[in-house]
Amino acid sequence: MKRFFATLCMAALLMVSACSSPQQTAAPASSGEVSSTDTNSETPKSGGTDVGIVLPTKDEPRWVQDETRFKDALKDTKYSVEVLFSQGSSAKEKENVEALMAKGIKILIICPQDAAAAAAAVDEAKAEGITVISYDRLITDTKSIDYYVTFDSISVGKAQGQYLIDKAKGKGNPLYLYAGAATDNNAFLFFEGAWSVLQPKVADGTFIIKNSSEAVALQGKSTLSRDEMSKIIAQVTTNWDFKEAKNKAEAHLTSAKAADKGNVFILAPNDGMARSIADVFAADTDVKSYVITGQDAEKASIQYIIDGKQSMTVFKDVRILVKDAIGMAVDILEGKIPETTGTYNNKVIDVKAKQTPVQVVDASNVKSAIIDSGYYKASEFKNLK
Ligand code: BGC
Repeated sequence: MKRFFATLCMAALLMVSACSSPQQTAAPASSGEVSSTDTNSETPKSGGTDVGIVLPTKDEPRWVQDETRFKDALKDTKYSVEVLFSQGSSAKEKENVEALMAKGIKILIICPQDAAAAAAAVDEAKAEGITVISYDRLITDTKSIDYYVTFDSISVGKAQGQYLIDKAKGKGNPLYLYAGAATDNNAFLFFEGAWSVLQPKVADGTFIIKNSSEAVALQGKSTLSRDEMSKIIAQVTTNWDFKEAKNKAEAHLTSAKAADKGNVFILAPNDGMARSIADVFAADTDVKSYVITGQDAEKASIQYIIDGKQSMTVFKDVRILVKDAIGMAVDILEGKIPETTGTYNNKVIDVKAKQTPVQVVDASNVKSAIIDSGYYKASEFKNLK
């Protein structure tokens, strides 16, 4: 049923309406990392600010993309909006929320740096009567979330895993697993989706996991508990950090024998990590070919796909997510009840959610999915056919 739901969602990508989901569960969360800070603001149209938006970091193109799409979507709104970035710091994130509260926001749209750490910030906002919308990543361990707008993250992982399966021939194909940050609930959902399709193919010998003893120990289990996933993620996390992804891939290839290389298959959780990991695998002379996944349709990865350096990306059309978040905010400001399509449990409550489908993009459909849909311009790429 879930698979049917996911297939339906993928087929319906360019329809603006979102798909509903069976209940999803939140993943365990731990502490976040702190780095430099930065902000970027839209000037309020009059007096205070109506809607405050807090995004995790400018260091990843994904979130800069969201900011651009928010700005595009907000050009014609009568409401004033301000966007702030937390630069990988939960402390800065809380400061941002407080700064927006001081400006009188009525709605907070927030994508947490760390799912659990963000609870304190949204508790404060909620106590002031602000409506809180969790954006893309679910905030866990709090009752203070009113709504959640998200992509279908389980489907993202399933699509990545299925892509590797579809490209594999015969038995014994080396498989390298990588994951996102354990502080991000989505990292668990992506991994859960990927594992659900890859595990049977590990069990039947199509793939052999090469870089995680924890995954090997659990490879007989089709469904993993969150604790079990945590153990694997702890070993293969990239922390959503380019350098960590590169270092980990280098360490894995250094300890692997030539026989563990050859034609390899790599589950990379997103585009940024995929590019870092792909560069490492491409430079290893014992790697004859590689298939590597991604997600986000970042411009740099679209170029990598065109150039044959990254195999696929899961296209998450940020225009739709932004439209849903803004639509929800405007509904609330106008006293209407926003439309939702399902719920996600954040360990404390079931949060009403609106979910958006995703689409697989590779060299075969990059032009139609990304250029012809108007997501990016052809002139932004080289060698596009
Ligand atoms: C988002 C991805 C993003 C990743 C790293 C996830 O929560 O859903 O789109 O690539 O975080 O920032």
